[in-house]
Amino acid sequence: MKIFLDTANIEHIREANSWGVIDGVTTNPTLIAREGREFREVVEEICSIVDGPISVEVIALDHEGMINEARDLAKIHRNIVIKIPMTVDGLKAVKVLSREGVKTNMTLVFSPNQAILAAKAGATYVSPFIGRLDDIGHEGMSLVAKVVKIYQNYGFDTQVIVASVRHPMHVVEAAMIGAHVCTVPYAVLEKMVKHPLTDIGIERFLADWRRYRGEG
Ligand code: E4P
Repeated sequence: MKIFLDTANIEHIREANSWGVIDGVTTNPTLIAREGREFREVVEEICSIVDGPISVEVIALDHEGMINEARDLAKIHRNIVIKIPMTVDGLKAVKVLSREGVKTNMTLVFSPNQAILAAKAGATYVSPFIGRLDDIGHEGMSLVAKVVKIYQNYGFDTQVIVASVRHPMHVVEAAMIGAHVCTVPYAVLEKMVKHPLTDIGIERFLADWRRYRGEG
């Protein structure tokens, strides 16, 4: 499973990338706005750090506007993936862009039917939002299982990005299901590294080593 970082924070992207475990980055208007910097400048900087798919979202709601924005954004870097919201206009835009070879990520997907349509339109990626479903009392991860199964049944090329991840168990569940990608906030990535028994183990090894050397 590929791991993308779900942020527009350059410090976090630089740090996570240095761990050697990041395959790409996903952003959205909220994440970009949080940084308080010029949109294009942030996107260019992300592309200069991570050599992998970088998702950036269009703002237009009509398909012509989406297509124009997408064509312009795609020029920033060969790794740019255009995030397009799951609407009728979004589907029309994905269809046109996929024919042009522009990579797309159909976002704000909350049902298997939406995921089927995204794949039919030719989306490169589809992003089911797990945490937001959990937040309203649904089982977000069961959506991922259904979408992965449906795509396997029909050999769709569209890759599933598990998005709106809230905690490390979401990552494990995504991997167990066989999702292609899980996009994680930096805080979740940090938690994935940690285990108390690892810390205790290191402490114990060092204490034993100091004793063996007559230092403790
Ligand atoms: C990623 O593609 C999404 O934009 C992101 O995961 C949304 O996460 P949230 O539900 O925590 O805002």
